[in-house]
Amino acid sequence: MDPLTDVRDISRIAYGFMASKALFAALNLDLFSRLAEPRTVGELVEASGVPAHRLKTLLATLASLGLIVRDGAAFRNSPAADRYLARSGRAYFGDYYRMQIDRQTYPALQHLDAGLAGDADSLAFGSDVELMSDPVEAEAFSLAQHAGSLGPALEFAKAVDLSGSTTLLDVAGGSGAFSIALCTRHPELTATIIDFPNVIEVARRYVAEAGLSDRISLIGGDALNTEWPQQRDTVLLSYLLSAVRESDIPALLEHSFNALRPGGRLIIHDFMLDDDEQGPLLAAGWFLSNLAYQPDAGSFSAATLNDLLTRQGFAGPSAQVLIPQITKTVICGKPA
Ligand SMILES: C[S@@+](CC[C@H](N)C(=O)[O-])C[C@H]1O[C@@H](n2cnc3c(N)ncnc32)[C@H](O)[C@@H]1O
Repeated sequence: MDPLTDVRDISRIAYGFMASKALFAALNLDLFSRLAEPRTVGELVEASGVPAHRLKTLLATLASLGLIVRDGAAFRNSPAADRYLARSGRAYFGDYYRMQIDRQTYPALQHLDAGLAGDADSLAFGSDVELMSDPVEAEAFSLAQHAGSLGPALEFAKAVDLSGSTTLLDVAGGSGAFSIALCTRHPELTATIIDFPNVIEVARRYVAEAGLSDRISLIGGDALNTEWPQQRDTVLLSYLLSAVRESDIPALLEHSFNALRPGGRLIIHDFMLDDDEQGPLLAAGWFLSNLAYQPDAGSFSAATLNDLLTRQGFAGPSAQVLIPQITKTVICGKPA
């Protein structure tokens, strides 16, 4: 990123949260589903129950962001809003933004100053352990995470070659999105998911809905002090290393090494900085937002992980982008 010289660039950063909140407010009104067809303000007032003067202000903001377009007296979705934000869209994931980002991440950021100060009494919530011990919050988080992870999980299943692998251990597997996508693609694969007990109950529902209850087993517990199944062909850690204390990462890599059969593979999928640690913005922002509830979390690049993995005895770590600007996968092997 070039160094900034203009105050307007600073304003764009300072007021950026207004755009986020406009998007979430529109999702909460399900406006994008209504705007799959052109609609006048009058029609939108009738459908949403929001008075015209308020709605017009929101519509102007959404139009300024390019989320919707004005066509004479009517408004309609931009192509991206139609695809990702309207419930009729082929790749709808508005619920992820609505339930996880608006409802949990956005308010959590109010506690970032406390996280940076290490003020344990003023954090967003104690930690993942505390959030996930509340069944209502755990369910809301995991339902939203499922909506957010489904698309990347399908991409991951296409991009990562799991042929020859019949046993997968999906540590911190959440709703099961990755295990479900992988087992659906590889009929010979069975999986075990470890996550906190309230999250496992959500996974149980999704796994049953996918008709995979006989191939995906579930273990409720904290991955840091639960026994992991051994002799696995593949271990997957998706968004776990960014969620725990930085000091716990080596132990998780050691557990992964021990859980693999010789010749097995560890796959890490997570937020990942560039190797020069100057971005990208979205990966850096996710690591930063984690500090609002886990001040001992770290941030890492593929190069940082490669060092840790090599020190643990893994061979040939290689990285590839999964969600551009946000996540990468790092794959390495336990020597045969
Ligand atoms: C962002 S979600 C990702 C879920 C899933 N891996 C995916 O990619 O869709 C992070 C998950 O890590 C789980 N988690 C965090 N710390 C954990 C721990 N110590 N033991 C088990 N699960 C943990 C959370 O409960 C949550 O389900």
